[in-house]
Amino acid sequence: MESPHAVLLVVLIATFAISNLVQAEDQEGFISLDCGLAPNEVSPYIEPFTGLRFSSDSSFIQSGKIGRVDKSLEATTLKSYMTLRYFPDGKRNCYNLIVKQGTTYLMRATALYGNYDGLNNSPKFDLYIGANLWTTLDTGISLTGVAKEIIYITRSNSLDVCLVKTDTSTPFLSLLELRPLDNDTYLTSSGSLKKFSRYYLSNSESIIAYPDDVKDRIWESRFESEWKQISTTLKPNNSIGGYFVPQNVLMTAAIPANDSAPFSFTEELDSPTDEIYVYLHFSEVQSLQANESREFDILWSGEVVYEGFSPNYLNITTIKTNTPLTCEDGKCNLGLRRTKNSTLPPFLNAIEFYTVVKFPQLETNGTDVVAIKDIKATYELNRNTWQGDPCVPQKFRWDGLDCNSLDTLTLPRITSLNLSSTGLKGNIAAGIQNLTHLEKLDLSNNNLTGGIPEFLANMKSLTFINLSNNNLNGSIPQALLKREKEGLKLSVDEKTRCFPGSCVTTTKKKFPVMIVALVSSAVVVIVVVLVLIFVFKKKKPSNLEALPPSSNTPRENVTSTSISDTSIETKRKRFSYSEVLEMTKNLQRPLGEGGFGVVYHGDIMGSSQQVAVKLLSQSSTQGYKEFKAEVELLLRVHHINLVSLVGYCDERDHLALIYEYMSNKDLKHHLSGKHGGSVLKWNTRLQIAVDAALGLEYLHIGCRPSMVHRDVKSTNILLDEQFTAKIADFGLSRSFQLGDESQVSTVVAGTPGYLDPEYYRTGRLAEMSDVYSFGIVLLEIITNQRVIDPAREKSHITDWTAFMLNRGDITRIMDPNLHGDYNSRSVWRALELAMMCANPSSEKRPNMSQVVIELKECLRSENKTEGMDSHSSYEQSMSFDTKAVPSAR
Ligand SMILES: *[C@@H]1O[C@H](CO)[C@@H](O)[C@H](O)[C@H]1NC(C)=O
Ligand SMILES: *[C@@H]1O[C@H](CO)[C@@H](O)[C@H](O)[C@H]1NC(C)=O
Ligand SMILES: *[C@@H]1O[C@H](CO)[C@@H](O)[C@H](O)[C@H]1NC(C)=O
Ligand SMILES: *[C@@H]1O[C@H](CO)[C@@H](O)[C@H](O)[C@H]1NC(C)=O
Ligand SMILES: *[C@@H]1O[C@H](CO)[C@@H](O)[C@H](O)[C@H]1NC(C)=O
Ligand SMILES: *[C@@H]1O[C@H](CO)[C@@H](O)[C@H](O)[C@H]1NC(C)=O
Ligand SMILES: *[C@@H]1O[C@H](CO)[C@@H](O)[C@H](O)[C@H]1NC(C)=O
Ligand SMILES: *[C@@H]1O[C@H](CO)[C@@H](O)[C@H](O)[C@H]1NC(C)=O
Ligand SMILES: *[C@@H]1O[C@H](CO)[C@@H](O)[C@H](O)[C@H]1NC(C)=O
Repeated sequence: MESPHAVLLVVLIATFAISNLVQAEDQEGFISLDCGLAPNEVSPYIEPFTGLRFSSDSSFIQSGKIGRVDKSLEATTLKSYMTLRYFPDGKRNCYNLIVKQGTTYLMRATALYGNYDGLNNSPKFDLYIGANLWTTLDTGISLTGVAKEIIYITRSNSLDVCLVKTDTSTPFLSLLELRPLDNDTYLTSSGSLKKFSRYYLSNSESIIAYPDDVKDRIWESRFESEWKQISTTLKPNNSIGGYFVPQNVLMTAAIPANDSAPFSFTEELDSPTDEIYVYLHFSEVQSLQANESREFDILWSGEVVYEGFSPNYLNITTIKTNTPLTCEDGKCNLGLRRTKNSTLPPFLNAIEFYTVVKFPQLETNGTDVVAIKDIKATYELNRNTWQGDPCVPQKFRWDGLDCNSLDTLTLPRITSLNLSSTGLKGNIAAGIQNLTHLEKLDLSNNNLTGGIPEFLANMKSLTFINLSNNNLNGSIPQALLKREKEGLKLSVDEKTRCFPGSCVTTTKKKFPVMIVALVSSAVVVIVVVLVLIFVFKKKKPSNLEALPPSSNTPRENVTSTSISDTSIETKRKRFSYSEVLEMTKNLQRPLGEGGFGVVYHGDIMGSSQQVAVKLLSQSSTQGYKEFKAEVELLLRVHHINLVSLVGYCDERDHLALIYEYMSNKDLKHHLSGKHGGSVLKWNTRLQIAVDAALGLEYLHIGCRPSMVHRDVKSTNILLDEQFTAKIADFGLSRSFQLGDESQVSTVVAGTPGYLDPEYYRTGRLAEMSDVYSFGIVLLEIITNQRVIDPAREKSHITDWTAFMLNRGDITRIMDPNLHGDYNSRSVWRALELAMMCANPSSEKRPNMSQVVIELKECLRSENKTEGMDSHSSYEQSMSFDTKAVPSAR
């Protein structure tokens, strides 16, 4: 139940009419669209009752028709709700708004049906933000409107809000409103906040909204028979903390009617599995005498989550959750219990509930979006589907486009543009050159004029261009002809190809047989040459090693060759023991001790390549056969974030593995500050985490057969010269066949502290065990605490973090060496992710792909707001994870 916001005029008049015809408060940054405002009406206009300045929506949308609520409702409906825009055509229709990137907005979409179409039908449809589903709006046939609210941080300067048909009913909208909020309020660790409910506790019936609420939130009153009201006539200071809760919301509060009973507040969610964020607003309304005190504990689901809180007199304090909460069976219960010392009962002024909505779909690269919109404008295309994101979701992809969205990690790009037979006039649009990933371009059967632009030749991805059946003139640029020779398929009208008339034309009847024969034999020669080149080119790669796949497309580069055809390659990588000795100058420079033996520095003879040579100790439990199998497997694992095996030595008594050399040692080394005193910055740490996660993701799903690392830890994450992180030491890894998701191994192996408790218990090995260990590494990156430290309050790092989280102060969790130089939003996100990974139950852990996405998102938000932290000291925090330690839920 996102409470339908009653827009009955009666109520609104009661609230606004008297006090607020005063000069409207500053509406800077507000976007207030009155959908369907008639073209003959003045725009913008000031809504007399609220003082809000509304504009017509017509310049923000290309489609839709104007409707008006039933006459019988006109007398009781506010002007802004009177008209609406409805969308009988097309499945998706989008508003496109100009916003400021990275701004936190409160966005509200309101629909008042008012039987505008005389059908008494109850429309129901979906609302999307960009390519992601926001919510379903069920307008109902009631005479009140329905409003949906979300707190959303804009990803770019352009925001699409789309109405999507889900059945036969017609989507429509009455109002679309955006209000910028303070950017350090309503923070989440991930996802956006959908409003569930927002109450001020008072026995008054009125709704409080703008201009009392300068952020234009709508507060409904709520009061229960077990409560008693207290209030003040003095205006509290509401500007502390940035939430700007209206003063008249803070001037009343509810206490338990029975002085000695605890105060209890319950709310039932629509969906019991929803994750929620709760905001509690307090301001003391009574002036306390010297012998009086008010102090209480805050309880969630019966557990104390905040101890000994005393509200400030006439001063707002907002207590919020730092990590999302869940409610048992969807029943949320908040309790306020006075402490022994308190002479007065607890109270609450106001409370907000939000549910978390995640927006996982990446949206099309902004450069492509700008370019295609530019093309759309140039040709004045007014196609119904050309709204919203061009590529995603796939079912709403613009007609005539093709896109790649290979995986969940890279932004979709436009790869094909087909505007054939669409009546295009004018020149070939310059915007096309900015579609840098375009492979196919079809502009045939139009009325295009002017020359063929040179830029087409510079578009490296293009393999197909069709410009035929147009009125183009001028010649084909030389560079483009050159591309054609290199394989580009180019179709143009004959008159263009022959410009200025110097080539063979259709009138070839006139040519003597001789020339024709010469020409055709030349053609044969060319064909033969081409075939040879083709064959030669095709053959070449098989003599080459597989290149390491690029880091952002790990899944494309699935190594799927079978083990049997490896002999050639393995031989080339095989070294004798004497070569190993030469390489390492007789084992002169030990680098450290690895899983199964000592590691030495070395150089490959005759090249400048440095290597790390691991000599397996005789006592190693690994048998020769296992060693051999392992080597063959490892030689085929290539990923930029995995330390690659350069070669090996397998003379019976001397087994050695030769790896690429990583000059910057391991992550642990850097965290421990041994590395020359320079501290890894927070964004570097995030980048390292992303790299390592990509490496693991590749092991889990990128390579065949997939592998479990089994010993993920901070000493196994190595850093090269550029601080690119690579995962090392597959000494323990085991591959397992696809489809067989887990396997029972007899020996439990791994490093204490990093070891998945579930694996330890069951011996069942799965990717999720690596996820657990990775979670521990993330916690190390964040806290720089030892994984196990018996001297600490809680010896294991997960218990310690959960314990510190409950004290609510992030600065004590963070590595003090960072000196607060991080953005708390990205830190919370990373913390939550770490705790999810380290969840004792493997089912609750994310997989590595999800981890990668989340970390990239973290990094993106860190880089956007680099160097800023906004943890207000007035804004208290609580975390609700006392129970499921060490889970963050
Ligand atoms: C919040 O806004 C201020 C002022 O515009 C800006 O300096 C700061 O970086 C922003 N912080 C975040 C977390 O976006
Ligand atoms: C409210 O508190 C803030 C911070 O303490 C202060 O800057 C501001 O002047 C106060 N406002 C009023 C109206 O007292
Ligand atoms: C008030 O609450 C206390 C503690 O919960 C309880 O013992 C007492 O019976 C209640 N009094 C009344 C009148 O309900
Ligand atoms: C506090 O003191 C006043 C007198 O100054 C007295 O009337 C009141 O009962 C006292 N309250 C408490 C809780 O002791
Ligand atoms: C409000 O809080 C501020 C900071 O905590 C404090 O300086 C001020 O005295 C408080 N105002 C009132 C009226 O208690
Ligand atoms: C109760 O108040 C006394 C005196 O103010 C203080 O010493 C004691 O710590 C308080 N007890 C609790 C549990 O807060
Ligand atoms: C979008 O594409 C352009 C051009 O290829 C590139 O420079 C830019 O980094 C891309 N943007 C993102 C967010 O990936
Ligand atoms: C292509 O993109 C660049 C940078 O994004 C921009 O400056 C330029 O105006 C664009 N060109 C066209 C023709 O849209
Ligand atoms: C192309 O444009 C010319 C002149 O503008 C017009 O006569 C002709 O009919 C157009 N052809 C097509 C196919 O639209």
